[in-house]
Amino acid sequence: MAGERIYIFDTTLRDGEQAPGASLSVQEKIEVAHQLVRLGVDIIEAGFPVSSPGDFDSVKQIARRVKGATICGLARSLNKDIDAAAAALAPAKRKRIHVFLATSKIHMKYKLKKAEAEIIKIAQAAVKYARRFCNDIEFSPEDASRTEREFLFRVIEEVIDAGATTVNIPDTVGYAQPGEFGELIRAICNNVPNISRAIISVHCHNDLGLAVANSLGAIKNGARQVECTVNGIGERAGNAALEELVLSLNTRKEFFEGKTTGIDTKQIYKTSRLVSKLTGFVVAPNKAIVGGNAFRHESGIHQDGVLKKRQTYEIIRPEDVGFYGEGLVLGKHSGRHALIERLKLLGFKLNKQQLENAFGRFKKLADKKKEIFEEDLISIVEEQMKELPRVWAIKSFKFCGGTQINPQATVCLGKKNKAYEATSYGDGPVDACYRAIEKITKIRAKLIDYSIQAITSGKDALGEVNIKLKVAKQEISGRAASTDIIEASVKAYLNVINRFLFKTKAARRIRL
Ligand code: KIV
Ligand code: ZN
Repeated sequence: MAGERIYIFDTTLRDGEQAPGASLSVQEKIEVAHQLVRLGVDIIEAGFPVSSPGDFDSVKQIARRVKGATICGLARSLNKDIDAAAAALAPAKRKRIHVFLATSKIHMKYKLKKAEAEIIKIAQAAVKYARRFCNDIEFSPEDASRTEREFLFRVIEEVIDAGATTVNIPDTVGYAQPGEFGELIRAICNNVPNISRAIISVHCHNDLGLAVANSLGAIKNGARQVECTVNGIGERAGNAALEELVLSLNTRKEFFEGKTTGIDTKQIYKTSRLVSKLTGFVVAPNKAIVGGNAFRHESGIHQDGVLKKRQTYEIIRPEDVGFYGEGLVLGKHSGRHALIERLKLLGFKLNKQQLENAFGRFKKLADKKKEIFEEDLISIVEEQMKELPRVWAIKSFKFCGGTQINPQATVCLGKKNKAYEATSYGDGPVDACYRAIEKITKIRAKLIDYSIQAITSGKDALGEVNIKLKVAKQEISGRAASTDIIEASVKAYLNVINRFLFKTKAARRIRL
């Protein structure tokens, strides 16, 4: 059944990155943008160029380097914002300027202090001005779901006449209900005379947990573009989750009359891992599609059912989203070729050096751990693919502690072929190691978040540590895995320190 094409507008790097504590470096944003292209999104909203020099630079770098999707930049309905967006997007082969202006009574009265007539004039002028720079213009009447219907229809009609090619209907505060939001989209189709000249998009927030449901309701009623983020990250409770939208359309094809997207679902799990690693937002085990438990069956009745006929309790095949479960894949005696083949299947493309390093790490892990699962391989390769130059690297550490002993750690770190050692006490072995590292690097950092998870089952499972530190007023996340949880903790900490040093250097470069 070949139905209409639904465009996926990914705003992980703009609305997603607005989530408190999610800040990414330019390098990291480029890495995510490349992965979004592999995932098959149609439009990448790369940032809000006027908001900071860093955002401007990220949009510009993505526009220059990332091919295969339309690159979009956000702007308020102000010429200076549109100028910044146009300048940042200039190198892109396919570009879009996304202009927005609030239209609800509450926003117009208290935030903008403007009357309806003035709002229409500003919106028209902004769209016309943006059209000077490119033909692909999106307009969003912010807080559309709380806007007076008749006024909303008028705004939409005027911006389409002014040259908007996409009109995006945001449920900015996540207030709408699925039936109601779908009905709003239908009403727009029926009441805006020139609506056939634009694509209707929706942008739903998750304050009541309804972002995906509202977006799907809108698709059923005529929306042809959905705005979403990987893992549903975003302002407050987040945005509609890309993976949930796409899998709903794919799983319930008939219900959605065969509407399709260009997403390669096999890239979903990998993209989710990357975004989680770089933002430091751990995916909840029960999160649909990409959570650790999404494909695990605990109850005996369910396990029995799945063994007899998978579809009894499984509506999605894990491998369709690039999740290969815990199947044993490689062991101590597996060679380079087996590793390359398995990595290919997982969707990783490594250069020769990265492969060599990954193989070395694989062999080391195989010495410690009898069975290597696919999640272990993903973790190895993710470490390998970190594009950050390592300023500080771990050489060795030791610690002692116990019920009657004050925990003490000695850590030795390497920097530019020199070794540095320090000893410190702490509340526990991890704290003692972190204090020793602080002594060596002389970088003061406050631990805000620390979590540890077993990547696979078994006593010898890799432990994955996710941490967030506050360094010089910035919240930075790090992740590392090892069969030894203290080693994983030390590596995650160094990951943050190296990221901080890299970010500081990049920030200096932008200011120059
Ligand atoms: O939530 C919102 O209204 C937005 C707009 C800028 C589209 O993010
Ligand atoms: Zn938003």
